[in-house]
Amino acid sequence: MITEDSFKRRVSYLRLSVTDRCNLRCRYCMPKGKIQFFSSDELLRLEELKRLLKIFRDLGVCKVRLTGGEPLLRLELESILKEVIALGIRDVSLTTNGVTLSKRIPSLIAAGLTRINISLDTFNKERFFNITGSDSLNSVLRGIEDSIAAGLTPVKINMVVMRNINLDEVEDFVAFAKNHPVEVRFLEVMPTANNFEGTSSLTHDNFVSVEEIKERVEQRAALIPEEFSGSVAKVFKIKEGIGKIGFISPISNHFCGSCNRIRLNARGILKTCLHGPDSANLRLALRQGASDQDLKVVIRNALLLKPEEHFIRPDHYLSQHLQMSQVGG
Ligand code: 5AD
Ligand code: SF4
Repeated sequence: MITEDSFKRRVSYLRLSVTDRCNLRCRYCMPKGKIQFFSSDELLRLEELKRLLKIFRDLGVCKVRLTGGEPLLRLELESILKEVIALGIRDVSLTTNGVTLSKRIPSLIAAGLTRINISLDTFNKERFFNITGSDSLNSVLRGIEDSIAAGLTPVKINMVVMRNINLDEVEDFVAFAKNHPVEVRFLEVMPTANNFEGTSSLTHDNFVSVEEIKERVEQRAALIPEEFSGSVAKVFKIKEGIGKIGFISPISNHFCGSCNRIRLNARGILKTCLHGPDSANLRLALRQGASDQDLKVVIRNALLLKPEEHFIRPDHYLSQHLQMSQVGG
């Protein structure tokens, strides 16, 4: 059964945040000292998650991404992964900051993981500390290497590009993509309710458009466009290299018109738009005894209110609702 929203978009891709906790404090996501974590009795328990996953599968979800916070902090992650696959959802991936990845790779692969996205914004140790508040750069780099060595394919590296912070490293990331079998994806930084509204040192001046990033990249590499891959990234092969480059432009060229995504956070709040308000509280419905059929109605009704598009633009650079660390991007 395929579920459509009121703009005839087929909703088939669930981004499931399994925890709101993180072992980093990236300044564009979760600046130090400002975050209130969900209390543990609010978190969806494994059995609740399994039930909801089955309902989403029945409603037409055929792609799942596990996110956080940092999803590896949830020790049941492998069980969740197994459940997704047991439900027949083959397209499943994980977005991680990579800090504790290396030692989990065998169990993740045993649970059925075949691909991975790892966030990395700099190759410089001091900058890494400045951006994330942690000195675990080497662990992340090891996580990337071990993912490649273990045969995860594709390995995607997400770099959030920020002026005056890491823009000058775009060239280094291009070099990395030339020499490694990875897809380096450059992301425009999005305003979130934690950062651009005064709780961190990032401002609109830090925003860099994909257009500008691409110009920089093209000074270092000849790009050959790939066929549309079904993802929001525009992807290119590098003419003289083994990896790929992708560009993601949520602000300068948003992809709302073809958005097939919904998000469920770790306490069971459904969000039909990353930048919109909460859409439904599935935890509450579940704990009040809703049947599967009732839950499907709640989800369908929420989908009918999925906004047509978000209204963040380079010249209107504010997000009221986005708590990135609670929805995992
Ligand atoms: N803008 C763009 N990307 C972000 N991410 C986290 N916060 C932001 C933001 N404000 C990215 C992370 C990671 C993914 C989960 O989302 O770098 O790659
Ligand atoms: Fe943690 Fe990812 Fe947010 Fe960084 S971007 S604080 S790694 S959840």
